[in-house]
Amino acid sequence: MHSTSVNKNYIQCKFSSKWLNGRGLTVVESLDIPKVAVLSATAGCGRQQKGEILNILAEELNRSLSGTCAGRLLSDLGQRMFFPKGLLSQSAEATERAHKFNATVGMAYSGGQPIMLEGVRQQLPGLSPKEAVAYGPTSGVMAFRELWRKEILRKNPSMKGKACSLPVSVPGLTAGVSYLADLFIDSGDTVVVPDMFWPNYRLIIEERHCAKMEHYSFFDDKGGFNVPAMEAAIRKSAATRKRSIVILNFPNNPTGYTPSLSEAAAIQTTLLTLADSGIDLLVIMDDAYFGLQYEADNLRESMFARLAGAHERILAAKVDGSTKEDYVWGFRGGFITFAGKGLDEHQYGALVKKLMGVIRSSVSSPAAPTQYIMMKAMEHPGYLAEKEKYAALMETRYHAVKRWLATHPAPAGLRPLPFNSGYFMCFLCEGYSAEALRLRLLDEHGIGTISLQEKWLRVAFSCIEEADIDELYSTIYKAAAGMKA
Ligand SMILES: Cc1ncc(COP(=O)(O)O)c(C=O)c1O
Repeated sequence: MHSTSVNKNYIQCKFSSKWLNGRGLTVVESLDIPKVAVLSATAGCGRQQKGEILNILAEELNRSLSGTCAGRLLSDLGQRMFFPKGLLSQSAEATERAHKFNATVGMAYSGGQPIMLEGVRQQLPGLSPKEAVAYGPTSGVMAFRELWRKEILRKNPSMKGKACSLPVSVPGLTAGVSYLADLFIDSGDTVVVPDMFWPNYRLIIEERHCAKMEHYSFFDDKGGFNVPAMEAAIRKSAATRKRSIVILNFPNNPTGYTPSLSEAAAIQTTLLTLADSGIDLLVIMDDAYFGLQYEADNLRESMFARLAGAHERILAAKVDGSTKEDYVWGFRGGFITFAGKGLDEHQYGALVKKLMGVIRSSVSSPAAPTQYIMMKAMEHPGYLAEKEKYAALMETRYHAVKRWLATHPAPAGLRPLPFNSGYFMCFLCEGYSAEALRLRLLDEHGIGTISLQEKWLRVAFSCIEEADIDELYSTIYKAAAGMKA
């Protein structure tokens, strides 16, 4: 009998050498948690610390993923993650077999239904008590996950015949990106992100994970997506560990730019070439603004559809959700879907279980009522037509802004950057700070915009009625002209 004091949850461990694995992990049996793995003196991967304990369930998942790009890409935390069987499986067993009383779950029941305040019931007349107030599953409501997968396939016809995991519900796209960071980003890693990016990536990557961002210029000299700069950044980030994490966000926040079909093909070819050269790639597709493309040659499908099943060294992770696609920003409804060439159902299951460990250990489960509401909304007969109507409204505003910019010469020091999709467009401020322009617009004209990195002023035309676009942009131009003087 061996014992270890590394973690009080894992005391009284019984040595069992048959579980010695390739990374120098020794798996032992514990009296209170059935089996755990303790890192021996010969740590194979060189990242886990000697003495660190892996739960046997984590180790089983790691073994399922061993030899795959997904397995190699896992962070230390990702390697440790697993979905505990304890409470939830006992509860599931009771649901099936406790014919007398079910006293397992941490909820309160009356008359066979979860207790629900009348004031809550009145706000949610379309939901049953179970849908409205009961805990949902950790990975999301199964019927909603299946429906979302069906929608991904409908919206991305080139996914036809390509395998992917079942989408896992997460509480919003922010959580989606953050959970992927938990699973795959170690401190000291570099994550490839263009110079124009959604600022929350910085908080997730740099502050939560002590990793760095490798930036490249989003636009090339001709105002297109800068594929060679992206390639150089990936090569640089992969120089030491032959792995790279890349975030692609189209339609993009803040630029409002979506690559053309030929640029998308170039991105795809470049990523395949990098994978061919032996680099393991996690490509995170942040598809928050999916469906808001306004120009004929815009990429209309997710890059996920181009990368799914494309290469053994590419793990594609799609982060999407109803937040913007379905105009329910506060619902906190997002999904993560994985695709990797050669991954089988068992391996997708292992990845999903690791993700479920991350969810269970953070929010426990995403909000259930909003999932049920969205599922019913997606089955509503007017769903697609209404979405088209609002996408058309965004497009009308987009064209109004384009027309205005085409007919009004910009003042010196203010340059509109290319945009063709989404909610936003940006101006480049030259010779003065974008923050100073933002404050002038706010203080002197009562107009709110966003300044980014002192250089760019982002305007969310998605929020502005078409009739107000002339006044908004005229004021921005006048204020900017004053900045330069
Ligand atoms: C690019 C991008 N990704 C993710 C998000 C966050 O989405 P959610 O509100 O679902 O967390 C946003 C929100 O502004 C975004 O612009």
